[in-house]
Amino acid sequence: MVAVSFVHQKGGTGKSTLAISSAVALAQAGNRVLLLDADYQGTSSEWGNRFGHRFQVATRSQVQPILHSEMPELRKAYEWIVIDSPPTLSEMTESVVRASDTVIIPVRPALPDIWALPWLVAIIRKLGQREKVAVPRVVFNQYAGEDLAPLREQISAWNLPVHPHTIPVDLAFPAVFSGRPLPGPLAEHVLRLIDPGQC
Ligand SMILES: Nc1ncnc2c1ncn2[C@@H]1O[C@H](COP(=O)(O)OP(=O)(O)OP(=O)(O)O)[C@@H](O)[C@H]1O
Ligand SMILES: [Mg+2]
Repeated sequence: MVAVSFVHQKGGTGKSTLAISSAVALAQAGNRVLLLDADYQGTSSEWGNRFGHRFQVATRSQVQPILHSEMPELRKAYEWIVIDSPPTLSEMTESVVRASDTVIIPVRPALPDIWALPWLVAIIRKLGQREKVAVPRVVFNQYAGEDLAPLREQISAWNLPVHPHTIPVDLAFPAVFSGRPLPGPLAEHVLRLIDPGQC
């Protein structure tokens, strides 16, 4: 069982889009998948209520920071657990990180998303002094040909790994919110993103 989370306190970076897309891509590939919504905005759980059955994706909401303590039980029932998280730095951030084998931080290719990173990383590193947690990995999402070199340079100056794979901007991603399936090439993109060999 692999638990992968999408985390960033900056809003709108693609946490829910990539969480739902990953759950869909994994289920389309025949896996038993739980989409776990740790965000009180309810994006992933609402998607699950409406469309989860269409893709055989189970959905559960947990907006209290006890999510990590529920994982041992949930891990028994699923091959993959995909966690969507809120745009906050809170106890919930810690709970989500503690629950995860892989932590992915989506950023748009723009400086404000990058400038927000040290705050999040400080929390994860502090947690890492107390217990073993996954090393978070930054992923460029909504890539549309921007020059990534200065952004990569800033991220590596903070000693943060950047995922080798980049997710393009594509309108088929937001279409998953309306219950559309994920086209094959985009499913491949997200599967490369969450491949444990890459994280
Ligand atoms: N790769 C992509 N291509 C095209 N649109 C995208 C992509 N990723 C995200 N989006 C769009 O960007 C917007 C914000 O994405 P999303 O809601 O997933 O962000 P979020 O990080 O979950 O936001 P919040 O912090 O509010 O929870 C949505 O309209 C979404 O469909
Ligand atoms: Mg969201």
